Amino acid sequence: MNKSKLNVAIIGLGTVGSGVIKLLKRQKNNIKNRTGIELELVAISAKNKRKKRSIDISPYRWIASPITIARDPDVDVIVELIGDMDNTARKVIKEAINNGKHIVTANKSLLAKEGSSFEELAKKKSVFLRYEAAVAGGIPIIKVLQDSLIVNKISKLYGVINGTCNFILTKMEAEGREYTDVFSEAQQLGYVESDPRLDIGGIDSAHKLALLSCLAFGTSLDLKGVKTEGIDHISIEDIDEAHLIGYKIKLLATAEYQKKLLRQEVSPKLIRKDSPIAQVNGSTNIIAIEGEEIGTTIFSGPGAGMGPTASSVVSDLVAIASRKSKSTFLNGDKNFSGKRDKTLTKESSFYLRFVLKDKPGVIARLSGKLGSCGISINQMKQKPLPKQKATLIMTTHKTVRKNLEKALNDIRRLKICEQRPVSIEIEEI
Ligand code: HSE
Repeated sequence: MNKSKLNVAIIGLGTVGSGVIKLLKRQKNNIKNRTGIELELVAISAKNKRKKRSIDISPYRWIASPITIARDPDVDVIVELIGDMDNTARKVIKEAINNGKHIVTANKSLLAKEGSSFEELAKKKSVFLRYEAAVAGGIPIIKVLQDSLIVNKISKLYGVINGTCNFILTKMEAEGREYTDVFSEAQQLGYVESDPRLDIGGIDSAHKLALLSCLAFGTSLDLKGVKTEGIDHISIEDIDEAHLIGYKIKLLATAEYQKKLLRQEVSPKLIRKDSPIAQVNGSTNIIAIEGEEIGTTIFSGPGAGMGPTASSVVSDLVAIASRKSKSTFLNGDKNFSGKRDKTLTKESSFYLRFVLKDKPGVIARLSGKLGSCGISINQMKQKPLPKQKATLIMTTHKTVRKNLEKALNDIRRLKICEQRPVSIEIEEI
């Protein structure tokens, strides 16, 4: 790549793609001054040429087929922003790498599943594969893990990495509204992915966490090892009860690597109100990293949106132009043989909510099952409901999740619950 111009093609012209075009135009001279290299947009492609967009695409060469762009000899780098709805992105990335083109992508779900094979191919073809925009929008967390913290032995990272869920939980809390109501609003605002399960089911966070943890710990990508739970069972009552005991509910992504055991988890957690994690509202993301040299370092900022995500995409282009880029993201310990800790042996307290039949002996039977699994109740309150039902809210003393899951299964079998019990770990961070 010994030339003063880098020819760029963008595939996918949604919000982020349009933002990248705007930014490339606005920053053209600045980038040239700083790197000595001109980023030239030489081709664009998207599903629908006529779709209404916030930019004028007429000055750019339109190529209908993304695969044709991937083979175009005039293109040096492909910016892939088409998402993971069908197989197109995968084919385009492979074809482009095979044709010697660098890749910049924001495709978190595809990378979380196939990043390793892209990496191998990119290495073989000596091209760069960059994906700063795939995790936490405008927060430059990939570069931080690849470069800035490289001499740190990282033991833990955690944070809020799905803006949609954080928006929903924050609004529920601030406005006292139920989940379904706020979810509809988030959908109307265009926050929710086209497959909503990705957001509210915790899957989007799991994709991002898998990418972050392999960078942080030098392990291989292990999406299947991420224990994943979403937020759609959280009610305003849970949020209010958490508030009363000094906590907020956040969808927390956590990865820990200790004694060769990797624990990756995405699930709602009660977080103490004064924790920096609990201060993050709306669609903002936050990531805390615990490193041997730096202690705990926290990064917070916009996790999505046109400007922040485009900023990350263009920063990858500039890195390629400046040839500062590593070719791959899996730059860790290739001989990693650590075990995946899926059993979650960590001890925690839990918040529990049951809706029960209000009959004599019900609480005795329920607490008996907790007791026989070694679980001790810390606080408990009952709230009467119509039709001889009652809500029982409690927090437990510390226990391992395995014990709690056994107790909840046993309680369900007693047929005293009117709905599935809600259990949320209390995370003291
Ligand atoms: N659906 C994602 C989120 C978009 O809500 O965070 C950014 O990756």
